[in-house]
Amino acid sequence: MSVLSGKKILLGISGGIAAYKTATLVRLFIKAGAHVQVIMTPASKDFITPLTLSTLSKNPVYSSFYDQDEDNEKWNNHVELGLWADLMVIAPATANTLSKMANGTCDNLLLATYLSAKCPVYFAPAMDLDMYIHPSTIASFKKLEQFGNTMIPAESGELASGLSGEGRMSEPENIVAFLEADLESRLPLKGKKILITAGPTYEAIDPVRFIGNHSSGKMGFDIAQSAANLGASVILVSGPSHLKIENNLVKVIRVVSAQEMYDACHQYFADVDVAIAAAAVADYKPKIIALQKIKKTADDFTIELEKTKDILASLGEIKKNQFLIGFALETENEIENAKLKIQKKNLDLIVLNSLQDKGAGFGKPTNKITFIDKNFEVQPMELKSKEAVADDILNKVIAHFL
Ligand code: CTP
Repeated sequence: MSVLSGKKILLGISGGIAAYKTATLVRLFIKAGAHVQVIMTPASKDFITPLTLSTLSKNPVYSSFYDQDEDNEKWNNHVELGLWADLMVIAPATANTLSKMANGTCDNLLLATYLSAKCPVYFAPAMDLDMYIHPSTIASFKKLEQFGNTMIPAESGELASGLSGEGRMSEPENIVAFLEADLESRLPLKGKKILITAGPTYEAIDPVRFIGNHSSGKMGFDIAQSAANLGASVILVSGPSHLKIENNLVKVIRVVSAQEMYDACHQYFADVDVAIAAAAVADYKPKIIALQKIKKTADDFTIELEKTKDILASLGEIKKNQFLIGFALETENEIENAKLKIQKKNLDLIVLNSLQDKGAGFGKPTNKITFIDKNFEVQPMELKSKEAVADDILNKVIAHFL
């Protein structure tokens, strides 16, 4: 999945011949899963029509402060457009537009939107080679980079003038690749490895029966998805769950029993920066697994159980620099019990679920949690979707690495 997926991209087009390539650029953004809105300078409409770009972006195209239809005049709010965007890309960026951007001129909608945008701004220059190397153009580039804008350098090749050299707008495919690489490098968990456990475990009684629980795995899978979106490499060790995750950054290891989950976690733990135990691991398992299906004979039947290994506690025992997060599901004396678990399992943070809170627990799309850190600082959170809770947990991880 592209890092551009779900991103809101504001594409600003200024008046150069390379504007015709923005049809392809919009198509590639949409293909990557982005939402696109286009702003054109009046001059750019000589090179490509708003209708083309509106059709491809599936949105109206803006080019002036007012839109006039038969009866109404509608003001195009440049502040709103700037606030909508996750990133703004100005391509092609002509020498004229770049110079105005560098000097705060805002005599068209694109420039006014640029000035009010709070998101990261990228610009892809396109001009003839002598203009590209002119000291005033180079001064514009420098100034814009000092403002925190990012230049997508022009490429070398044949130019519209017939000359050959630097100044051709970067090809649409290369602009997309540039943006993806740049955005990925800025992700807050880039380079971090995270081990996550999820789902229930099944403890076999005989070849057809087991002891299990109602955990769906959703919380752990949501944490894995969110961690990957933030750039982390994830090892997701999951007990039996129908959930799937397809992401290059997530390696899913399917296990069945607590012992298998324990083995998988210990295989990877030494190599990770963070471990998050969201699995509902069975606390007990049958002492003996019958080799054949148990037949019903007596009226009463007893299965002798023994404790499973506590995976989280075993990780707490051997942890070095890993940031270790556990979950606690409590029904009484919640805070006190959770604090004891922090100490007993040598955790850095615990995510407490209280079954007394409506909306928390197994099989629900929402969760209501309280964070307690190793200094016993307690932070209750609102009832949220499990996706939003996953983001909150990963914000704690990000804060740890700051
Ligand atoms: N956990 C684990 N291995 C186990 C049992 C639990 O890794 N065998 C982890 C869970 O993934 C969770 C945390 O320990 O992150 C807390 O689990 P919980 O069931 O709430 O607590 P327990 O330690 O099992 O204690 P109790 O059941 O007595 O409350």
